[in-house]
Amino acid sequence: MMSQHDNKNTTALVHGGQLNKMVERYKIPLEQWLDLSTGISPNSYPIPAIPQYIWQQLPQKSEGLLAAAKHYYGTQSISVTSGSQAVIARLPALYLNHIKKPSSHIEVWLPEVGYKEHERAWHDAGFTVKHYQHLPTYEDLTLNAIVVVINPNNPTGELQQQQKLTALLTTLESLSGWLIIDEAFMDVIAPSQSLIHLTLNKHLFVLRSVGKFFGLAGIRIGFLSAHPFWINKLNQLSSPWEVNGPAQFIAEQALNDHAWQLAQRQKLTDLSIKLEQLLTKTFLHHPTKSDGPSITIKGCGLFKTIVYPQATELYQKLCHQGLYVRLCDENNALRFGIPDQAQYQRLERLLAEHCHS
Ligand SMILES: Cc1ncc(COP(=O)(O)O)c(C=O)c1O
Repeated sequence: MMSQHDNKNTTALVHGGQLNKMVERYKIPLEQWLDLSTGISPNSYPIPAIPQYIWQQLPQKSEGLLAAAKHYYGTQSISVTSGSQAVIARLPALYLNHIKKPSSHIEVWLPEVGYKEHERAWHDAGFTVKHYQHLPTYEDLTLNAIVVVINPNNPTGELQQQQKLTALLTTLESLSGWLIIDEAFMDVIAPSQSLIHLTLNKHLFVLRSVGKFFGLAGIRIGFLSAHPFWINKLNQLSSPWEVNGPAQFIAEQALNDHAWQLAQRQKLTDLSIKLEQLLTKTFLHHPTKSDGPSITIKGCGLFKTIVYPQATELYQKLCHQGLYVRLCDENNALRFGIPDQAQYQRLERLLAEHCHS
């Protein structure tokens, strides 16, 4: 069902991470927590030795990094940003600079469930927000409409196929609108359903994150792929030295390291299958905990989300055990980040306690 935005204030958004808050709230020391609250890989790209001059100088545009990004992502038109979040926050201003129409006259379609920073950005800029459960069609869309797709979706894991998105792009082009695809978790999808190779189309924007797959969320680096016209306009909205030099240096090495990427993809696939099996055993097969068909497990190689009837109660219970996962915004699901080998063993013990309590 599609619904009109209810004008609620979305400024205080909850994300995973921020473990210090949990330490305070549950009075459990930091080192005793098992933190699986984010979709960031537990295995990070190893930080190379960074030459002194990179720390000492102001950051410069790196042709080496851009070449690495073009090759890794498979596009000719790409720009480096301080995380994909920085782009999400700026897209409304970019649109308004170009369209010269009041923002309230423009409809932005967002997934009903999904990373809420998109909604916050468009809502706060005064756009008319609409929600979809299934991708909107030509009949739903108005002139200059914008559709945001998170692919695969966080937290539902739902994946839209390339073919469907290409058709949507054609529709939006005919309406002089925009298709924005947030591919923060696309690196683990095979075969890739990315649309990034099509960004010479002026109606398409693709966002990529380095934080998740490479496990480098702390260095704040990401990419926007769009037509060069938009990349230039976005650069005009940015401040100088936005992306720090060490982050650029590390990202260039990570994007060029194909052997590490291959091993990482395999590792995440294996670990995520193991996690899904554990969640299935704990919540779907355990006789006392089986609540029938409404429990489902979805996700991708960077997280698994369990839709669970008493999600809030379960979340609280796990927190008291020192297990921090993400209670989804709708309070009907828990998202588990992928545990590494050592974390897996702790998780297995904690979930076994849960089953027997
Ligand atoms: C779907 C999605 N997009 C974008 C981001 C922002 O990531 P970053 O700014 O680290 O690239 C996140 C962060 O959790 C996310 O979940």
